[in-house]
Amino acid sequence: MSVTVRVPAKVNVQLAVGGARPDGFHDLANVFLAVGLYDEVTATPADELTVTCEGPGADQVPLDRTNLAARAALALAARHGIDPAVRLHIAKDIPVAGGMAGGSADAAGALVACDALWGTGASRAELLDICAELGSDVPFSLVGGAALGTGRGERLRPLEVGGAFHWVFAVADGGLSTPAVYREFDRLHENDEVPEPVASQTLLDALAKGDADALAAFLPGSNDLQPAALSLFPKLADTLEAGRAAGALAALVSGSGPTTAFLVRDAASAHSVAEGLLAAGVCEAARVAASPAPGATILR
Ligand code: C5P
Repeated sequence: MSVTVRVPAKVNVQLAVGGARPDGFHDLANVFLAVGLYDEVTATPADELTVTCEGPGADQVPLDRTNLAARAALALAARHGIDPAVRLHIAKDIPVAGGMAGGSADAAGALVACDALWGTGASRAELLDICAELGSDVPFSLVGGAALGTGRGERLRPLEVGGAFHWVFAVADGGLSTPAVYREFDRLHENDEVPEPVASQTLLDALAKGDADALAAFLPGSNDLQPAALSLFPKLADTLEAGRAAGALAALVSGSGPTTAFLVRDAASAHSVAEGLLAAGVCEAARVAASPAPGATILR
């Protein structure tokens, strides 16, 4: 018997970052939107905890107990006095180290899969609690849809989305470490008074109406980590420009990068922007996806 769970990637349509806190984290106003690019996590009974991974970038995924999926299984098992004897297999489709919460998705997927496999019957609140311990973006991977994350991003308020948004994601040649991008943010702002992060009502209205033009008008400058990601990975400026030239409504770095996100009018335009990005030679791969997407879902 085994359980397979599908989990979505995310894009941050606003990532407002406050100053560094005493614990090293940053207070955020983080508007998450789940997008229809998915990893699948399968949990199967085994002699001991093991992790295997297949798909693009799988060779960069750690298979030891530092893997967030393994840590999720260990956390659930420890709370319920269960032996974590499980094989976790990750079928990757979310870009690895890309700023799309791939590792967080795998953690949420493993948690839901192990809960079902072991019959733990953990409540939604307990699962969200474990998610928040595992990482700032993990609770959102569980719930999907759209949400405003505050605190370090883990305290979620669901948001209304009034229609589909279409995206192209340009996968970069390389990865960026999230802590390194936050350190670069701190360096770039060392002489500034960083304001309290607040979610934009204009943005929330654009999401609620499903209004792509209003969202496109808001996106430039909506990601406070973008200057830090561009500083560490300057070539991303060419990718952003190539996507705009290919007809995207708006271009931004996804989260801490280096994946770049392009909002487009519709599915047809998504395919032409993806072709334009590939023809310009500014990315490793171009992926088309729509949002919002559901959170962690048991497939079988
Ligand atoms: O929570 P998570 O493990 O995903 O965070 C990874 C790293 O990103 C943290 O160690 C920290 O350096 C940075 N981070 C932050 N403020 C946040 C979220 C993450 O500084 N709100």
